[in-house]
Amino acid sequence: MICYICPKIIPMIRVYSDFSLKKYNTFNIDSKAKYYFEYTEPEDLAEFLMRNKEWPFWQRLIIGEGSNLLFLNDFDGLVINPNIPGIQVVHEDRNNVWLEAGAGVVWDQLVDFAVFHNWGGIENLSLIPGKVGATAVQNIGAYGMEIQNRIESVSGFDLETLTEYTMEARDCQYAYRDSIFKNQLKDRFIITSVVFKLDKFHEFVLNYGDLKAETEKLGNINLRNIRKAVIGIRESKLPDPKVYGNAGSFFKNPVIESSLAEKLLAENPKMPRYPASEGKTKLAAGWLIEQCDWKGFRRGDAGVHEKQALVLVNYGNATGKEIYDLSKEICQSVQNKFGVELEREVNVIGESK
Ligand code: FAD
Ligand code: EPU
Repeated sequence: MICYICPKIIPMIRVYSDFSLKKYNTFNIDSKAKYYFEYTEPEDLAEFLMRNKEWPFWQRLIIGEGSNLLFLNDFDGLVINPNIPGIQVVHEDRNNVWLEAGAGVVWDQLVDFAVFHNWGGIENLSLIPGKVGATAVQNIGAYGMEIQNRIESVSGFDLETLTEYTMEARDCQYAYRDSIFKNQLKDRFIITSVVFKLDKFHEFVLNYGDLKAETEKLGNINLRNIRKAVIGIRESKLPDPKVYGNAGSFFKNPVIESSLAEKLLAENPKMPRYPASEGKTKLAAGWLIEQCDWKGFRRGDAGVHEKQALVLVNYGNATGKEIYDLSKEICQSVQNKFGVELEREVNVIGESK
């Protein structure tokens, strides 16, 4: 229901109440937002804030496509969707090009645009769902690339100071699936655009898993074939959210003390592991979960994907709580079997602290 329309010259500002978020989260959870505000022009936000004097008292949630969210209940507050379009080259020199994209641009369309122009640096991140704004929050990563290495700056609007500003990547506290936007600036800084620095002469990154072999099967190693290979690998093991609700990896890959990793390795010589910072080792959460016999598990409509144990699935009408409860059981069994604590990667909305 539209509860408030502010007539402006185009576009209009619309605030919806009791708004269903089912199409705004890839788990397809039927949660409702008390208020929902989506805008496409940055100045519409200022107008919205000016006209809704009560907004500082509302709970807030900023969303993109909802591909990393799990709603446990209805959201008793304001959901803001800065659906700002536009891709433009803001600078270029002999070796690089700086691309600015609006927060609402679909991430994979930006990757496609870059690959089409033969600009390298994000091709391994093909087919990751979501919008550009969230890539800078989540520090998305896949197949040996992390977006923090390509982000130059992030611009947005701070709901506490009511100012617009731009942050350099070095100030965004990037780490594995982490950033300042998930911590101090969470639900406070609305990202409106991101500038990415891409390469005109690019060194390909092909050392993850089968990526090199899969690219070679397609012919020459170039950006287009790497993108195709990544898409092929992803489609072969990750469920399409349009078919089965999911949010990709439900947990982060745990980074543990190397001494514990050595002990586990002695007992499980085939355990996948990756070097991390000094004295630490990263384990594959999917492997740990599979060893606890969860792969393919299903209870009602909540389950663990049969090809990727790190992905929890809504097969139809599971509630957020059913998926969340399953995730807690999985954590507990990994803790019991390996002494390793799993941390959720998905943003759980409505979790009591
Ligand atoms: P949302 O889920 O809407 O939001 C994510 C977080 O960002 C929330 O905390 C939200 O509050 C915040 N946020 C969103 N937009 C803004 C904004 N404009 N300003 C401020 N805060 C904002 N991720 C990977 O890293 N690698 C993968 O390989 C990968 N594979 C996936 C595969 C599948 C099938 C699925 C469903 C998900 C996968 N993901 C992966 C997770 C997900 O796609 C990413 O986290 C993505 O960046 C989320 O984008 P979104 O627009 O959907 O953000
Ligand atoms: N594995 C298993 N069983 C499983 C799943 C995985 O044994 O059910 C093993 C694999 O055999 C492999 C290792 O675990 O040895 C790693 O598996 P995979 O390459 O599939 O990657 P992942 O660690 O499970 C991470 C990211 C993905 C990203 C891929 C590719 C995290 C939390 N997840 O998954 O990101 O696409 O690598 O780079 O870091 C996401 O964040 O949503 C996501 C999908």
